Amino acid sequence: MERITDLLSRMTLEEKIGQMAMVNADSHDINEDLYSALRDGRIGSTINQVDAEINNKLQRIAVEDSRLGIPLLVGRDVIHGFRTIMPIPLGQAATWNPDLLCQGARVAAVESASAGINWTFAPVVDVSRDPRWGRIAETLGEDPYLTSVLGAAVVRGYQGDDLSLDDSIAACAKHFAGYGATEAGRDYNTANIPEIELRNVYLPSFKAMVDAGVATLMASFSDLNGIPPTGNQFLMRQILRDEWGFEGPVVSDWESIEELVMHGLCSDNRSAAQAAAMAGINIEMASSAYADHLPELVKSGEIDIEVIDEMVASILELKLKLGLFEQPYTDPHKFPDIGNEKNIETARRAALQSLVLLENRDNALPLSQDAIRSLAIVGPLADQSYEQMGTWVFDGDDSISETPLNAIRAMVGDSCSISYVPAMETSRSQSTDQFEAAYAAAKQADATVVFLGEESILSGEAHSLANIELPGNQAELVRLLHSAGKPVIAVVLAGRPLALGNIIDLVDALVFAWHPGSMGGPAIADILFGVESPSGKLPITFPKMVGQVPIYYAHKNTGRPASPDLFVHIDDIEPRTPQLQTGMSSHHLDAGYEPMYHFGYGLSYTRFEYSQVEVLESEPRLGQSITVRANVKNTGKVEAEEVVQLYLRDLVGSVTRPVRELKGFQRIRLKPGETRQLTFLLKPGAFEFFGQDMKKRSEAGKFNVWVGGDSNAMTGTEFELT
Ligand code: NOJ
Repeated sequence: MERITDLLSRMTLEEKIGQMAMVNADSHDINEDLYSALRDGRIGSTINQVDAEINNKLQRIAVEDSRLGIPLLVGRDVIHGFRTIMPIPLGQAATWNPDLLCQGARVAAVESASAGINWTFAPVVDVSRDPRWGRIAETLGEDPYLTSVLGAAVVRGYQGDDLSLDDSIAACAKHFAGYGATEAGRDYNTANIPEIELRNVYLPSFKAMVDAGVATLMASFSDLNGIPPTGNQFLMRQILRDEWGFEGPVVSDWESIEELVMHGLCSDNRSAAQAAAMAGINIEMASSAYADHLPELVKSGEIDIEVIDEMVASILELKLKLGLFEQPYTDPHKFPDIGNEKNIETARRAALQSLVLLENRDNALPLSQDAIRSLAIVGPLADQSYEQMGTWVFDGDDSISETPLNAIRAMVGDSCSISYVPAMETSRSQSTDQFEAAYAAAKQADATVVFLGEESILSGEAHSLANIELPGNQAELVRLLHSAGKPVIAVVLAGRPLALGNIIDLVDALVFAWHPGSMGGPAIADILFGVESPSGKLPITFPKMVGQVPIYYAHKNTGRPASPDLFVHIDDIEPRTPQLQTGMSSHHLDAGYEPMYHFGYGLSYTRFEYSQVEVLESEPRLGQSITVRANVKNTGKVEAEEVVQLYLRDLVGSVTRPVRELKGFQRIRLKPGETRQLTFLLKPGAFEFFGQDMKKRSEAGKFNVWVGGDSNAMTGTEFELT
């Protein structure tokens, strides 16, 4: 602290405001203007430079040629890998394996730190329940608890044990807050979230990142309840600083301070700078409202210098913690090779555990290497080294990627002949020119594996969709392959949940692969041929059709919950049926009330049986931890991993409570016939929620607890907290 106080006392107002400026430093912006701004102390951080030499050069100017020699924060979006690419975050979430997410982030940290990067803008811990939103790919799914546990693991991975180590980089929890609730799933759109919902659903994952020691946060550039977070004092000051005690820097999103004008919150950049500073946004990304207007706002007394000092101190503190004053430069030679074996192995394990088996009729999978002599490989995404990496891979090296086609070829060798017909130029093609060739290949083969989905460009920032069915003529292709009369195995690569209703009955098995990253190919081959049993579980609900959105497992019960006897499907309604006789319950006439695949779901090549769920405390008490025990048995024939999930329902509350909430999970591996007794400790926090007074509380009463392999788990018990 002394060092910071001393530095601050020697800084001019312009130098202080310089620390609050982050400029784009990609290769087009490396010029004399940038150098002289660095020399003058007008820049505190850069974004988008990934060349070690250039980063060292910029640091050298800041450190050696500026008056106070303050090093730079060097930022870059290293969202799910730098050169070696892990599955998209939503895919990583499907592993339900915090250690693996931690290792993936570590790979990203080490590879990017070697290039001189010391700050990344991840994890995205926005909870989202809308697959139309392209950025769902970057999230960890729909659930606050799962997002919290996995996000904290990512923070640990980037930041390592000690931020000052050469291979640790600062993480940034984003986008604070409510971005994932964007209306109609359209990016940058408005979010309207009642405070109670904000506190119970959208904020807990950010609080968990603060508790996990995340170094920074980013403000969302969307609108939240009429006050965009970049200028939202309630969010940034009351909740983040006062209630949670977060002291690290908050960075704006790209130009989001100046966008306060476009939002209509501020009349010009000057008032936007004032609004953002009053909200406590420490660093302005890309635009220059702070640099242009803060000096004058301070001189005129509209902003107290103490406000600026506090914000600058937090930036300097981060630079100190990162050890930048001692070692501002990178030496790539001191780092392990990019894309080394260990990194590749991490990418492979992450891809493997992210794959979710959604259908497997008559045990169509795994394919038997002994029985299958010929295989048709079809589809636009079988051999796309770039597309399989997914969105947000600015620096991804697709020469590292192993495609499914190559991996399957390598696995089967000469024992099986493979005919490959892409059939479509892209996932969006309408042309059927190659369909006949695809049909012929399917007809001649023992089985067909068809690689469907969407290219990476169809998800991610500003890539939202109103229709989430397979694009282009893919459904028609599947119909044709099905008509060839041989088993059809679909592998879907996509950045979001898709509505798969129009193909699901035409395939024998379906593996949902997300965008699986560099090692997607070998992971998919391992699953297809049963080298490993699938163990991924959905971190988000898959709707049958887009009109069901938002559909999520932790919904409220309503006063009229739907059930089979309270619902008549549109096709079964007789002419002149009286208004009140189709079941007066909460459903859609055409879609019913169930999703296509529920949260937590995923099949395996074995079966797991759950039994003896019990609460160990004889008189469970409010405010104390509760222990839940359950048995899991592998009743099938292969060794496999299972994600065991615990759900809780608070039956009556002073505000209505979700029908179930995830409160714990464990990934275990069981041999055939093996039984394991598992214990879950539910700490007092597991029973807490925000009530009408916006205060956290837990309430006595009855609870249901279930333990099982998905959010429909039925093995459970009831207990009462007194
Ligand atoms: C805008 C995105 O919203 C944010 O997630 C990202 O970190 C910044 N751009 C920087 O690229």
